[in-house]
Amino acid sequence: MFLGLFIKWLFEWETHIVVLFVFLTYTVTGGWRFLRIVWYTWRRDLKGLTFLIYVSVLLKWYRKTGVTVVTLFDKTTKKNPDKKAFITIDGRSWTFREVNEYSNAVANYFYDQGYRKNDIVAVFMESRPEFVMIWLGLAKIGVISALINFNLKHEALAHCIKVSGARSLIFGSELCEVVKESYHLLPTNIILYISGMYQTNNIQAKHLDNILKDYSKLPPRVTHKTFFNEKLIYIYTSGTTGLPKAAVVTHSRFYYMARSIFHFYKMTADDVIYGTLPLYHSAGGVLGVGNVLISGCTMVIRKKFSASKFWIDCRDHGCTVAQYIGEICRYLLVQPASVNDTNHKIRLMFGNGLRPQIWLEFKNRFSIPQIGEFYGATESNANIVNIDNTPGAIGFQTRIIPSVYPVTLIKVDLITGELIRDKYGRCIRCQPGEPGELVGKIVSGKPLRSFDGYADKEANKKKMARDIFKPGDCYFMSGDILEMDEFGYMYFRDRTGDTYRWKGENVSTSEVEAIISNIIHLTDTTVYGVEIPGTEGRAGMVAVADPNRTLDLQLLSREVKKTLPSYARPVFIRVMSQLNMTSTFKLKKVEYRMEGFNPDIIADDLYYLNVRSNSYDQLNSDVYNGILNGTIRF
Ligand SMILES: *[C@@H]1O[C@H](CO)[C@@H](O)[C@H](O)[C@H]1NC(C)=O
Ligand SMILES: *[C@@H]1O[C@H](CO)[C@@H](O)[C@H](O)[C@H]1NC(C)=O
Ligand SMILES: *[C@@H]1O[C@H](CO)[C@@H](O)[C@H](O)[C@H]1NC(C)=O
Ligand SMILES: *[C@@H]1O[C@H](CO)[C@@H](O)[C@H](O)[C@H]1NC(C)=O
Ligand SMILES: *[C@@H]1O[C@H](CO)[C@@H](O)[C@H](O)[C@H]1NC(C)=O
Repeated sequence: MFLGLFIKWLFEWETHIVVLFVFLTYTVTGGWRFLRIVWYTWRRDLKGLTFLIYVSVLLKWYRKTGVTVVTLFDKTTKKNPDKKAFITIDGRSWTFREVNEYSNAVANYFYDQGYRKNDIVAVFMESRPEFVMIWLGLAKIGVISALINFNLKHEALAHCIKVSGARSLIFGSELCEVVKESYHLLPTNIILYISGMYQTNNIQAKHLDNILKDYSKLPPRVTHKTFFNEKLIYIYTSGTTGLPKAAVVTHSRFYYMARSIFHFYKMTADDVIYGTLPLYHSAGGVLGVGNVLISGCTMVIRKKFSASKFWIDCRDHGCTVAQYIGEICRYLLVQPASVNDTNHKIRLMFGNGLRPQIWLEFKNRFSIPQIGEFYGATESNANIVNIDNTPGAIGFQTRIIPSVYPVTLIKVDLITGELIRDKYGRCIRCQPGEPGELVGKIVSGKPLRSFDGYADKEANKKKMARDIFKPGDCYFMSGDILEMDEFGYMYFRDRTGDTYRWKGENVSTSEVEAIISNIIHLTDTTVYGVEIPGTEGRAGMVAVADPNRTLDLQLLSREVKKTLPSYARPVFIRVMSQLNMTSTFKLKKVEYRMEGFNPDIIADDLYYLNVRSNSYDQLNSDVYNGILNGTIRF
């Protein structure tokens, strides 16, 4: 608007005086603030806007012309067939041609087995190139892969496979034992395939490597067409409540997620990405892998993050880009200083969860020119990116014309997470400095604004809210509390709802609650996360009502170890004679959460998970101090 006035001012002498008067009034009444914001942020905003326009046009074009992730990958391969696509730390590598041939064989075999477009196959494997090559191969015949978290076992594993509706399960031989133990819980009739070296095959599984060895490596001949707005893979997220949900990742979502990182951080096909994040989540599996398949980068895969090997790996493989989550940064920082800290060519690290408190320390110690922090869930349409290296910010929203990208902070009750509405029933936008929940407007039909949702349609409703600013409008609720400064930079504050983060994973309290009450047969249990100074995220704590003191701690620790992944095991137990019932269940949790695990304050019996002996031991003041000073770790 100001620009318009300015042009007028230049060209229309008659209005000169009037405009000057208006301008002065505007400035004197606080408009100078706005001008200052424009002055400081227009370059950043223009960059964002350019990408938005570019990608919107491209997505439309791709959708019309039948481009998919598969055809984009074919193009990448043709350009540079002998370039390395994947390298693993044990010294093996796969060129683009090899990736293409392997995935063609997968496609041909499953096509011949009668798999067709929109059939579903679950893939359960540690991080290795086969994981990608298998889902890519299945995508070539329009089959959707459900990418399963390799930490899962028993009920949780069976749940994920069930909700996906998979016809078969392809698992890595390294997970043979887990599949065997969980076999009786899996859907009957599910067909099993095993991939990789195996010792004993005492479950009925077909050996995929043997089959593929002799299978045609020519491009599969399929009769149907797949389009950009159709499903590519399912990625599981533990949103805010309940068991993991399968989020739909369409071709276009996969494309623009990967492409936005590539674009904003000026990556090129020559970049070598160091990936230690699991490939079943979108960080590793879309933002990392996507830039291999679509942009032609090389990816170095390490199965399991190692703090002592991180910089050595980066140096040895000539990596230029590395991925992180907040926990990785913290683990790296507590390593003793070494000459290897800066002996590498990493120019960009991208990821999420790097805390503002350690941002600069991390950047300086390891001499990382650019930190690419972003915010966004797999299924979310409220994604923001820090594109200009601003310390601490997880992204930005333009202050000049916010309606261009309708992602906003709205006021919520910070304790219950409920929306605060004005007297007309509308939500209230946060001003700079006011914490609020990040929401993104859903406009169906527009790929950048749509919410593709979950495989389970019921779950969608919980992530959407209506009548936010206008009757009938619809927004995606991120479940996270952010704060914006006057220039539109966003900073992370907290999560709402019933999930906490521990060891880089979202833990759903209701899921853990369900499993624990199953084990101990006491009705009143509540799970929440408590903060331990010096650690990232929150440690799980369970409060149980046990009036008759019948709780069997040995049984609990044994069963919990068997049924829950390590990050979801409660670290603390609080045994009470009764849990306080309030009308809103959440409030009770909040109080307990705030009381934490200090035995000097809490009169109830407290126990902690002794990691060495895998038992729950008494938590007294001595132990408490040990936890605070870091001699006891989890
Ligand atoms: C640094 O790297 C060298 C070569 O890989 C290795 O021998 C040495 O142990 C590393 N130093 C530290 C402190 O990790
Ligand atoms: C955990 O939740 C956050 C916030 O909703 C989301 O950004 C992130 O992708 C989730 N991570 C996993 C592993 O599900
Ligand atoms: C505790 O003991 C009382 C009396 O023996 C019994 O009625 C009650 O059901 C018990 N409560 C639980 C939670 O086991
Ligand atoms: C539980 O309720 C009792 C009695 O109403 C009260 O004294 C106590 O402070 C409450 N505890 C918590 C943790 O809310
Ligand atoms: C940490 O606390 C424990 C328990 O109070 C104590 O024995 C130990 O000496 C402390 N260690 C340090 C390094 O302060």
